Amino acid sequence: MSGAAKGSWPRRVLVLGGTSEIGLAILAAMRLAPGCEVMLAGRDQRRLAAAGENLPCTVVTLHYDATEPAGHVKLADAVFSAGRVDLVIAAAGVLVGQDVLAGDPARAGTLVQTNLTGQVTVLLAIAERMRAQASGTIVLLSSVAAVRPRRANFVYGAAKAGLDAFGRGLADSLHGSGVRVLLVRPGFVVGRMTQGLSPAPMSTTPGQVGAAVAAALAGRARVVWVPPGLRPLSVGLRLIPRPLWRRLRR
Ligand SMILES: NC(=O)c1ccc[n+]([C@@H]2O[C@H](COP(=O)([O-])OP(=O)(O)OC[C@H]3O[C@@H](n4cnc5c(N)ncnc54)[C@H](OP(=O)(O)O)[C@@H]3O)[C@@H](O)[C@H]2O)c1
Repeated sequence: MSGAAKGSWPRRVLVLGGTSEIGLAILAAMRLAPGCEVMLAGRDQRRLAAAGENLPCTVVTLHYDATEPAGHVKLADAVFSAGRVDLVIAAAGVLVGQDVLAGDPARAGTLVQTNLTGQVTVLLAIAERMRAQASGTIVLLSSVAAVRPRRANFVYGAAKAGLDAFGRGLADSLHGSGVRVLLVRPGFVVGRMTQGLSPAPMSTTPGQVGAAVAAALAGRARVVWVPPGLRPLSVGLRLIPRPLWRRLRR
């Protein structure tokens, strides 16, 4: 909890992808103190306002579209010019089946922009402003899909692998600055994003991810797997021989 007393932390929070079920579950699990400010940034101001209705804080909605990088520095300037930011949760993302993307490469490009490049542009701007204030935490939603590309999901996996690498590099570049990056690697989360898909083994819920992230934020972890059993499993996933791996159907 860089740069702030534990009881009052965090005072100002920015959620990129402010309607995200996981992002909102993290806020719920953190039991924010009255008097805090939550900035929900996303594409649809009406749904963002509705998402903030039950928060115990002042809620502000802001425009953030990951596919419109020209506005990202301006967004960071607007947020930081109003005061210090304690916590940024980068929760924007889309999941589209590989079967759909195979016939629609432009949509695959949009998925990569949303899940990777549109986060790189905004988070680099945010990271420099946090470095200047010498405090702050960035929570980055990676995925177990980053561990190894699966033929059934490889564009999403490639974007998450890029995001995961970006998050680790960003954390190292901020080492010693007072700014912390927490990388979150959930497995299959039963919710809006995975609606219509049958749950994979070790599935969780947005509430479970929220609780795990809130607990990690209270400690010193740099990476959190949800559920924790995915961490040892990920070692095994990397070791499966490729002829077997490519036969996985999902
Ligand atoms: N659910 C899972 O199984 C799972 C597993 C591992 C990792 N994750 C990751 O966790 C994060 C949150 O997922 P979730 O389960 O909370 O999904 P969700 O409820 O569908 O939330 C996704 C968020 O991304 C936003 N978004 C989509 N396209 C955007 C764009 N172009 N610009 C800005 N925002 C955009 C959505 O906004 P709109 O309301 O405008 O659509 C929504 O706020 C994602 O990065 C996801 O990849 C999810």
